[in-house]
Amino acid sequence: MAVNLKGKSFLTLKDFSREELEQILFQGEKLKIEHYGGKDEPLLNGKSIAVIFEKPSTRTRVSFAVAIHELGGFPLVLETTNMQMKRGETVPDTARTLGRYVQGIVARVFAQKTLEELRDYSGVPVINALSDYSHPCQIMGDLLTIKEKKGKLEGLKFTYLGDGNNVANSILFGGSKFGMIVTIGGPSGFEPKSDVVEAAKKFAEKSGGSVLITNDPVEAVKNADIVYTDVWVSMGQEGGEEKKNVMLPYQVNRELLEHAKEDVIVMHCLPAHRGEEITDEVIDGPNSVVFDEAENRLHIQKAILSLLI
Ligand code: CP
Ligand code: NVA
Repeated sequence: MAVNLKGKSFLTLKDFSREELEQILFQGEKLKIEHYGGKDEPLLNGKSIAVIFEKPSTRTRVSFAVAIHELGGFPLVLETTNMQMKRGETVPDTARTLGRYVQGIVARVFAQKTLEELRDYSGVPVINALSDYSHPCQIMGDLLTIKEKKGKLEGLKFTYLGDGNNVANSILFGGSKFGMIVTIGGPSGFEPKSDVVEAAKKFAEKSGGSVLITNDPVEAVKNADIVYTDVWVSMGQEGGEEKKNVMLPYQVNRELLEHAKEDVIVMHCLPAHRGEEITDEVIDGPNSVVFDEAENRLHIQKAILSLLI
């Protein structure tokens, strides 16, 4: 039976059961088919959704605005630099105000706590469009892409290489809930935080998956079905040239990819720093699915919006 997600906020994959996440994936698949069949159902008819950015964005900004529009809603895209928050209005006061106007809030922020405050004070569902802690919409779109390419999720070796950042955290949560063999390869000192790893290990125990954190790039990539990477320096962490030297052994290049399965798919949430975490040859090569991934943000976000709001 379908689980009812109406009114719920989508702040981290950690808070959602496998059944709930499966439902979002099914809805994404359905809405994608309907979209290509030329009939987007107006599931957000008459609803206004604020889409707020504290950080830059290309994919998230456009895919949310288009998703809301195609579902018959009104996307109100806001930059915090142009809001009174910039002049010191608190997040709770902003949230209480927005809650009187809109039926949902999508927000890209630095602190996860900002999302929790938006949720607690607005009274409307809040969707995480990336925080320093996690990027759940990205990983749901990625799981949809993996399902399309591989026909399943369970039992696949899902390797992430590089910085233990927001994207890595969401891969840990999402992959472990679906019984995947989640492997994170990165340099010592840049592993995901232990509370995230411990939570993912618990989810994997339940789902029959596993979680491995290693400093050995070859071990990480060995027999992988999916090799995923992200920038070494995330938004808001600018600087850190010395970090790039320690990250170099984890660059996704042809040589390292030789250790993966022959039909490995290569993923990147984008934007890529070509020549750093991934070479041109690999990101533009036959195993790369990065633009299918980017497209699936649109379909999966329609699913999330329509199920929650
Ligand atoms: N992947 C992703 O979230 O891209 P943007 O930063 O362009 O939104
Ligand atoms: N880890 C990256 C993801 C960008 C989509 C960042 O936070 O900048």
